[in-house]
Amino acid sequence: MKVTITDIKQPVEAELREFEQRFREDMRSQVALLDKITYYIVRRKGKQIRPVLVFLTAKLAGDITDSTYRAASFVELLHTATLVHDDVVDDADERRGFFSINALWKNKIAVLVGDYFLSKGLLLALDNREHRLLSIISTAVRDMSEGELLQIEKARRLDIDEAVYFEIIRKKTASLIAAACAAGAASATEDEPIVERIRLFGEKIGIAFQIKDDIFDYGDSDVGKPRGIDIKEKKMTLPLIYTLNHVTKAEKRKLIYIVKNQSDDKVKVREVIRAVHQKGGIAYANKVMNEYKQQALDLLMRFPRSEVRDALEKLVHFIIERKR
Ligand code: IPE
Ligand code: IPE
Ligand code: MG
Ligand code: MG
Repeated sequence: MKVTITDIKQPVEAELREFEQRFREDMRSQVALLDKITYYIVRRKGKQIRPVLVFLTAKLAGDITDSTYRAASFVELLHTATLVHDDVVDDADERRGFFSINALWKNKIAVLVGDYFLSKGLLLALDNREHRLLSIISTAVRDMSEGELLQIEKARRLDIDEAVYFEIIRKKTASLIAAACAAGAASATEDEPIVERIRLFGEKIGIAFQIKDDIFDYGDSDVGKPRGIDIKEKKMTLPLIYTLNHVTKAEKRKLIYIVKNQSDDKVKVREVIRAVHQKGGIAYANKVMNEYKQQALDLLMRFPRSEVRDALEKLVHFIIERKR
């Protein structure tokens, strides 16, 4: 199925246009430096998968309300904050096809800017007494921090297995995508089992989303951010974990040695990347990603068919077929 993001956005096109205006206002500051950075970020907007999910899931569960707009803004503010912080943590100099905030303004400013966006989101919810939204997003913020820290802990010891890998990606990435879906649904209905089913749908696509992201790191097409940096940062992701479990003991020792001691050596890192491709690490990750895609679709198909459900179905396909 060939899908474009424009197809997916179609049922909530008007809402998204309104959202973009509100989002820009929600980011605003009187401090000139902050306003300059905000302007820079807004100009290079991302795919907006999370706000799209907020609006589509709200419509799946009921009607879009003013709360839906706040949920979309809060989720995208938080997403932006975590990207700015993540690029500091990963020492990454590129984001959305251009320089990252830390590359242009250095780490100190990037840390503060991330905190600023988080606080803007919190206030947006508080000022409007959005207790439910606050609770959904705060859970995701906690999980994301835990996920990133667990990843660092495991990178230091290089002892990660598949179970830990899934825990890391569920927390660092799927939690916010699940929160986007739960917040969207909760802005339109009070039916908790429905909100939970939609949240779980988000968690499944979030896991598939991060597996896709981890596959990108082993590829050679331009995705608008650095590639090959997972090994450089000693991050063991699904393709590498699989490979290490499917080579001889001697080969495994050699690959781990490179990750541990030679991760700054581009030629050596290439060698690991080649081994991962040859031993079927990428094919395996693709297979697992498709299993999560199927689980997400199974949850979605329990809703009656509608224009919105069709758009969500397309979004699931988009997540695993996307080029960046
Ligand atoms: C990037 O998310 C961070 C991950 C969880 C891998 P997106 O790929 O949704 O980022 P943008 O907003 O489109 O740039
Ligand atoms: C994505 O982490 C999750 C968060 C941003 C918290 P990654 O480090 O894997 O994502 P990219 O590849 O930099 O977008
Ligand atoms: Mg990271
Ligand atoms: Mg990163």
